[in-house]
Amino acid sequence: MNTLLFETDEVNPSPEIVRKAADLIKAGELVAFPTETVYGLGGDGLNAASAERIFLAKGRPSDNPLILHIASWEQLEQIAKHVPAAAYTFSKVFWPGPLTFVLERNPIVPDAVTGGRNTVAVRMPDHAVALALIREAKTPLAAPSANLSGKPSPTTAQHVFEDLNTRIAAIVDAGPTRIGLESTVVDLTTPVPTVLRQGGVSLEELRTIAPETVLGHGLQDAKSPGMKYRHYSPRATVSIAFEIVAAHKEASAVLASGKRVGWIGQNAPEEAVHLLFPQDAAFYARFYFAALRDLDEQGVDVIFVEPIPESGLGAAVMDRVLRSAGYKDASSV
Ligand code: TXA
Ligand code: MG
Repeated sequence: MNTLLFETDEVNPSPEIVRKAADLIKAGELVAFPTETVYGLGGDGLNAASAERIFLAKGRPSDNPLILHIASWEQLEQIAKHVPAAAYTFSKVFWPGPLTFVLERNPIVPDAVTGGRNTVAVRMPDHAVALALIREAKTPLAAPSANLSGKPSPTTAQHVFEDLNTRIAAIVDAGPTRIGLESTVVDLTTPVPTVLRQGGVSLEELRTIAPETVLGHGLQDAKSPGMKYRHYSPRATVSIAFEIVAAHKEASAVLASGKRVGWIGQNAPEEAVHLLFPQDAAFYARFYFAALRDLDEQGVDVIFVEPIPESGLGAAVMDRVLRSAGYKDASSV
């Protein structure tokens, strides 16, 4: 299949392009589209066959459930059996936005979407193209990040094309995504809101609305199965520069063996392919995945990454940095 490329404006999406993309979705095809976090690989979220196609296209394990993307509160009530008070209070502040709720599901949601569990993940994205597409398709869109399973999530249409060309019907390109890492996943079926994946809304921000919110055990938490798989891995090996002096020594040894070194941060050795990142969580969030892909393309063998403080959005950033370095894969559970 030839993957079609549709370009449109991020703020004022072309109705004609939205219609074409929605027609493909309605016909059971897959269309990648931008959200404020990363590009999603969209299919009709109420159609089991579409969901199955998503797993195939990504090479994703089928027990790792998908997020449904909605554009209205009515759609939430259609797919969730019970909407707890916390969903109202959080959504008032953070929707549309990078926050995903795990809720009890209605039978209308196919098992293929939820991996057979009795809960469903839902979010309302803060992106005009995504919202227009959901409305035009008249169905919630199931959409994981539009990368091959295990690769860094895509923050541009070009990244999607590199991973999924010929595997999906179309890509809607509306430029680079604003946040650059995925939504926060919070379980609202537990006695207190429990964060299963850190992301675009920080724990501190959630606690301003619901101070009782806790951080789940992340990896060990079988409730967010996605967290147990190897993730965000470029071809190169990723090494975290916890100590700059020690990392410089390590980098010299790599260079001495004839290999190439990439460096993300501010203290790169001269010989490294250097991407200058300020110690700023929003900057890291926005460009980290793109940097991994960029350094891969430049043919480096080892990528050193300077860490940032784990407060606010920095916690989600460091989660992705650690995972890309292989610290948090299935074997560490
Ligand atoms: O920002 C995002 O969330 C992006 C954009 C495209 O919206 N999507 C995304 O989807 O990151 P994905 O499939 O790559 O990650 C979904 C996460 C996984 O960790 C998955 O295990 C978890 O949400 N999840 C989905 N359904 C769940 C459920 N019923 N219970 C617990 N965790 C669930
Ligand atoms: Mg993903």
